[in-house]
Formats: sequence, C-alpha cells, structure tokens
Amino acid sequence: MNMMRLKIIATVLVAVFLIAQFVQPKRTNPPVVASRSLQAHVQVPQDVLPILNKACGDCHSSQTVWPWYSHVAPLSWMVVDDVNTGRSHINFQDWEAQVNPKEAGEHLSLICKEVRDKGMPPFTYRLMHKDSRLSDQDIDKLCSWSQSVGAPLETEGDHHH
Ligand code: HEC
Repeated sequence: MNMMRLKIIATVLVAVFLIAQFVQPKRTNPPVVASRSLQAHVQVPQDVLPILNKACGDCHSSQTVWPWYSHVAPLSWMVVDDVNTGRSHINFQDWEAQVNPKEAGEHLSLICKEVRDKGMPPFTYRLMHKDSRLSDQDIDKLCSWSQSVGAPLETEGDHHH
C-alpha cells in the first residue's frame, strides 16, 4: 500500500467520524416522582440503597450521570442504548412502570442472580466505572435483600411470554 492510499483512507475515516458526531442520540433524565420509586413500594435497607445507587443507578434510574464519552459517537449510541434498555427493564425511580406486581417481584429476585453471575453491572461498564465493582460483601447484602423481597422465578420450562 502506498502513502497516497493511506492518506485517503485516513481522511475518509476522519470524515466519517466527524459526520457521525452530528447523529446525537437523546440523553434523557426523566422527571423523578418520589411516589413511583422502588422505596415507595418495597422496603429497601439503609445499607442496600447505596449499593444500588453506585452500581446500578446510571442505567436503572432516571438520574443517569452521563460520562464525557456519551457525547462522542459511536460510543454515545451504545451508552444511550444501554441506558434506555436498562430503564425499560427496571427503573428504580419508576418502579410503577412495570407491567404488574408479578413482574416486579421477579425483577427483585433477578437482582441477586445477575450480581452473583457477574452479569450486572455489565462488564464494559465495570471497566469504565471502578466504583461500580461489587465486593463479595456487597453481593451478599444485595442477595439477602433480593431473596427476601423477591418472588420465586419461573423455571425455563413454564415460561409463557
Ligand atoms: C451500563 C448499564 C447498566 C448498569 C450499570 C446495570 N444494568 Fe442491569 N441491565 C442493563 C441492560 C441494558 C439490561 C437489559 C438486559 C440486557 O441487555 O442485558 C439490564 C437488565 C437487568 C436485569 C434483568 C431484567 C429482566 O427483565 O430480565 C436485572 C435484574 C438488572 N439489570 C439488575 C441490575 C443491577 C442489580 C445492577 C447493579 C448492580 C445493574 N443492573 C446495573 C444495563 C445496566
């Protein structure tokens, strides 16, 4: 490959990157209504709430702290998508958004499963947010709470939806 070719390719890449910046996804922080929150519906112990806030809040609350790279495409597209998807499953500040009490109960149980399996917070998020890494003690605290307030999970076999 000659120098000319490399220069053309580099120019095209830079141009694509710059044009991509015009596609800005919406970074929303919906209004918080206290009466709709998790705590308004479920007993959350004093030592559990801070763990949920530090490790889960950016994607499962309405008060996301948007990092600088959430303003830079293509990362911005991935971050915004993660937050929107996370909130659509569980938003601790909009607990009433869930379809029904059964779903809410299952979500509470899933919290223990997700943190034990290291599924949540997601790996890439943990890389960027050191504070979100959970100690074994954090996981134990989340689990004993999750299991005490959660509903039994459906087994794979009788999943209807
Ligand atoms: C970087 C964003 C992000 C963070 C931080 C995060 N989550 Fe999630 N969470 C998601 C996304 C996105 C989904 C949707 C499922 C998927 O795509 O994996 C999800 C799904 C879940 C589910 C499954 C819900 C269902 O309907 O099956 C649970 C439970 C959950 N998260 C709990 C947590 C807990 C507890 C924490 C903190 C310890 C946490 N999450 C931190 C993004 C996040």
